[in-house]
Amino acid sequence: MARILTGIQSSGLPHLGNLLGAIQPAIELSKNPQNESFLFIADLHSLTTLKNGSERELYVRSIASTWLAFGFDTDKNVFWRQSRVQEHAELSWYLSCFTPFPMLANATSFKDKSEKLADVNAGLFTYPVLMAADILLYNANIIPVGKDQKQHLEMAKDIASRFNNLAGEDILVLPEPLIDERMMTIPGVDGQKMSKSYNNYINIFLPEKELKNVLKKIVSDSTPLEEPKDPDSDITFKLYSLLASETETETMRQNYLNGGYGYGHAKQALFEIILEKYAEPRRLYNYYMENNDELENILKTGEEKARIIARETIAKVRRVLGYGE
Ligand code: TYM
Repeated sequence: MARILTGIQSSGLPHLGNLLGAIQPAIELSKNPQNESFLFIADLHSLTTLKNGSERELYVRSIASTWLAFGFDTDKNVFWRQSRVQEHAELSWYLSCFTPFPMLANATSFKDKSEKLADVNAGLFTYPVLMAADILLYNANIIPVGKDQKQHLEMAKDIASRFNNLAGEDILVLPEPLIDERMMTIPGVDGQKMSKSYNNYINIFLPEKELKNVLKKIVSDSTPLEEPKDPDSDITFKLYSLLASETETETMRQNYLNGGYGYGHAKQALFEIILEKYAEPRRLYNYYMENNDELENILKTGEEKARIIARETIAKVRRVLGYGE
């Protein structure tokens, strides 16, 4: 039996990159009866970039609703908010004392963020340690993530090994990332990696009109409608191909190559496939967003389950470190 674990930060609304890079692969894995899935909302991580509490609450709800909208079975699995299980923060501190400073200083995502953000706080720096704690608390084996998280996963493994070396026994389970090559980096409307922080993202839960307006912003070159176009360098085509079947993708490829097919047509096709493919998740998302009490109860039940496992790991770690149990 494999234990699958992944999280999404509550720093903005969930987007197509999160869905294709992490949420959908994790839900697929959770449907295998051999697996046990631990899916959570990384609301402590979101404090690194978002300080407003009521905004955070909205994003937590929207991410929780997304997991449920995609059919996550919370009876069989574990579903919780990171901030409601205090052991995450506790383990993070212990692990930070096993994390070499240069490992964090060389982290690509820290370097990127510290160039782009005005508020370069210590939480951003120790972000990977908290992420290691999230994973190691639950003895998780497989972590489905997008490519941008690969280095964080290597760090988690390294930190776990350092702790186990000190302990002289395998207290912490070494996790492995699971990265789907096709979904490695989903582009946003501007062609850069789709990200909450670049504000270039596609929120598939938007009302139809707003969704259409976002898709209109996808950048393209200026090849006139009649002329042939290169599908492989176009963002709309790329996004369409990630959602469509092989036959549908091939049809669109031929349309691009033949000419007489404009980027507006491709965007319309992308709009339609989003509505078609995500009809049921869109309905369920709105249901959970409106039924706050139901969502809250599901999370609270999940948090009780999460705490039991987290406490077992913390007890072992505390014993090794001489803090008692
Ligand atoms: P976050 O919220 O930034 O991203 C959540 C997941 O979505 C993936 N992702 C993408 N995949 C493909 N293309 C994109 N454009 C794209 N944008 C985002 C991310 O790779 C990620 O898998 N640090 C994590 C949250 C976290 C976590 C954990 C994950 C906290 N603790 C423990 C796994 C295990 C993050 O980046 O969240």
